[in-house]
Amino acid sequence: MMNSVTMTNSPSTFLARGRALEPAALVEETLRTFGPDLRVATSLGAEDMVVLHLVARASRTLGVAPRVFLLDTGRLHQETYDHAARAEERYGLPIEVFFPDPLAVESLVRKSGVNGFRRSVEERKACCGARKLGPLARALAGAPAWVTGLRREQSPTRADVATVEIDEANGGLVKVNPLASWTTADVFRFAAESDVPLHALHAAGYPSIGCAPCTRAVQPGEDARAGRWWWESPEHKECGLHPRGIGRVVS
Ligand code: ADX
Ligand code: SF4
Repeated sequence: MMNSVTMTNSPSTFLARGRALEPAALVEETLRTFGPDLRVATSLGAEDMVVLHLVARASRTLGVAPRVFLLDTGRLHQETYDHAARAEERYGLPIEVFFPDPLAVESLVRKSGVNGFRRSVEERKACCGARKLGPLARALAGAPAWVTGLRREQSPTRADVATVEIDEANGGLVKVNPLASWTTADVFRFAAESDVPLHALHAAGYPSIGCAPCTRAVQPGEDARAGRWWWESPEHKECGLHPRGIGRVVS
């Protein structure tokens, strides 16, 4: 695929227009504006698969490929790796894997133990810091913008997510959350209608999928994120990839 794009939009024009667009049009506009330096974060969960589907379509239309990345914490489910391979094959976009700094993880595990993240919110955040935030910084280095699968409905901590934001926490780059206003039902409806391949754990009762030791299935009626860090209270359930209250919402 040709890695060049005609930059028909400046980033400032994009910011002004972006929020009015529907997900598919927003993804295409994002790729048209930022070209091959655009980063797309994927955890391979349903939202991210819908985003990847839209990204792949825009990529074919524009003849330009963004950089799709997976943060491999070292504690992901085997099903996540299987699904990453399936997604690459289906969409033809390579998924760049970013690993944590081995010395940072070794030092943390020697200090806290292999499952130290269960002991306290602080130790859990230290693990997410070493295993997710370190690699995220490398994955976003030099990027003008990134795309995520964040949605407002996912959690009270995400109630203010906008489709287009300035990500001050990551140096002021543009952050695009095309599905910000979608419900869980919207995501799974789109996936079914568009034949988007889904992570095997969704069918096993996991609406939200993170690291294996920190994710469980939910019971009927339970909140979608009830299975993430289930031993913590809801206001703590963020790993730091998406700090709120720092990023300026663009309206
Ligand atoms: S988390 O903060 O609780 O772990 P969540 O699983 O809801 O986040 O995912 C929110 C968004 O963050 C995803 O849609 C995706 O864009 C990004 N993301 C989460 N985990 C990863 C990962 N391991 N690799 C790449 N992107 C990720
Ligand atoms: Fe560590 Fe759990 Fe955070 Fe994964 S989700 S980085 S295992 S604390």
